[in-house]
Amino acid sequence: MKTEIPDKVATAALGQAVSLSHLRQHIGQQVCIQGWVQNRRDSKGLSFIVLRDGSGFCQCVLSEGELGENAFAQAQALGLESSVQFAGRVVEDPRQLGGLEVQVSSLHIWHIAEDYPIAKKAHGVDFLMDNRHLWLRSKRQWAIMRVRNQVIYAIHRFFQGRGFMQMDAPIFTGNACEGTTDLFETEFFDQKAYLSQSGQLYGEAMAMAMGKIYTFGPTFRAEKSKTRRHLNEFWMIEPEMAFYSLEMTLDLIEDFLQSVIGQVLEHCALELEVLERDTDMLRKSLQPFVRFTYDEAVAVLKGQKEVDGKKATDLLEEDLSKARDGLRETNEKLADMEAQAKKGGLKKGALARLEKEIQDLKTRQRDLEESIRNIPVWLESARNFEYGSDFGGSDETVITRMFSVPVMVYHWPKVIKAFYMKEVEGAPHLVKGVDVLAPEGYGEVVGGGERETDIDKLKDSIIHHQLPMNEFEWYLDLRRYGSVPHAGFGLGLERCVTWLCGIHHLREAIPFPRLMGRLFP
Ligand code: 4AD
Ligand code: MG
Repeated sequence: MKTEIPDKVATAALGQAVSLSHLRQHIGQQVCIQGWVQNRRDSKGLSFIVLRDGSGFCQCVLSEGELGENAFAQAQALGLESSVQFAGRVVEDPRQLGGLEVQVSSLHIWHIAEDYPIAKKAHGVDFLMDNRHLWLRSKRQWAIMRVRNQVIYAIHRFFQGRGFMQMDAPIFTGNACEGTTDLFETEFFDQKAYLSQSGQLYGEAMAMAMGKIYTFGPTFRAEKSKTRRHLNEFWMIEPEMAFYSLEMTLDLIEDFLQSVIGQVLEHCALELEVLERDTDMLRKSLQPFVRFTYDEAVAVLKGQKEVDGKKATDLLEEDLSKARDGLRETNEKLADMEAQAKKGGLKKGALARLEKEIQDLKTRQRDLEESIRNIPVWLESARNFEYGSDFGGSDETVITRMFSVPVMVYHWPKVIKAFYMKEVEGAPHLVKGVDVLAPEGYGEVVGGGERETDIDKLKDSIIHHQLPMNEFEWYLDLRRYGSVPHAGFGLGLERCVTWLCGIHHLREAIPFPRLMGRLFP
């Protein structure tokens, strides 16, 4: 559609417009800004538009007196996500997010958007996922993606600052790294190939060449589990270090995660505020992490080991009874407010506030009901946990319930871990692996450990895991030519972002999630 040229046309060249994140440097000045209409509210002779440009947000005031009838009429026709350029003056307004406002004196319309499908009303998550290409424009997704970007930057800064070299592992691979059950099979010309589950085996080869390296790339797992912690395509950061022990690796993981958390707290204050993240809670992870052997973690899980005079199982019983009390209270309040809303007679503003409170209470009600359903199941599974098996998601929640910092669980039963893990001296049924469990129920964010260097033990392990020996010959060469103690770990980027953002599901921590049943958009 062709738009009429308005009376007062903003005229800055594209590259001269000021980005919204830099507006503060232009208080009192006339600037040109451009972006998309995120919200529009009208009153007589005035329009208030929240503009977003990707770098930030700003309220813009458009008045008929300033713009003239023709241009003002055009402004009032701007639907959500229409794209515009405004010229105007930047003024301070402490009531606005960011404390600024632009008083618009002229406008240029790039495009008047069709009716935008994502309205202000609450949408179901399936609808939002179908519209992920548009959903990314919402403020919450903006905040999450900005945190993700900061996490990525912090990761590079940390490793580069410590003399690690970034190197890339292939995505087409012939070898299974993390077991054969969840491989995506594909074809590489006339050969069978897999999409990489982990760059680790290549990382080990590169560490023998360069000393300390890290890979940062996409990894693929054909897990059919539809949980909030699983993606079928996710990004992994895998450092690998020659001449490193398990103990050195635990120290490195702690320094690394604390450095990432610190940088996110420092640079993403606004984003974390948008996400309503409890940053005091996050800050607690800057304290030393808890270090438990698998045996100790099992004892905590089963309520056999106390921490600060408390058992995990008792704490969960307490949580359950608190949730029941909370639900009773919430239900009463909700009934009360719904009665008020029904009675009517409220002014528009008061009614809107009441409706918002009702929505909040309903969210709380749902959360509490979920806890009341979940906790007994978790307790049951914790009590019945069999020594020697792997922790499930709920077991991780129970173990970490006692702490506000991550828990590093090391020395795992050999039978449940990958083929490459090094045996613990004097306890060959255990291996020098580590899982890092994030607090607040976020579960495993890091897996890693020290690698087996003894070629015979490694061969036995390859046979035991029924892996094709000849295809691992290149990997065994690393133990034939100057084998050294070495170790490494993998951080799941989306697990980390989900935790730092305090969001519920991994699908929001990646621009276009790949999950079972979700290949589009
Ligand atoms: O524990 P995992 O399987 O370990 C490895 O792949 C090792 N080769 C890493 C190494 O030592 N170099 O995976 C590492 C991390 C997990 O802790 C988790 O954060 C993440 O990758 N992860 C997933 N993230 C999202 N969706 C999935 N399906 C994931 N599976 C693992
Ligand atoms: Mg793991």
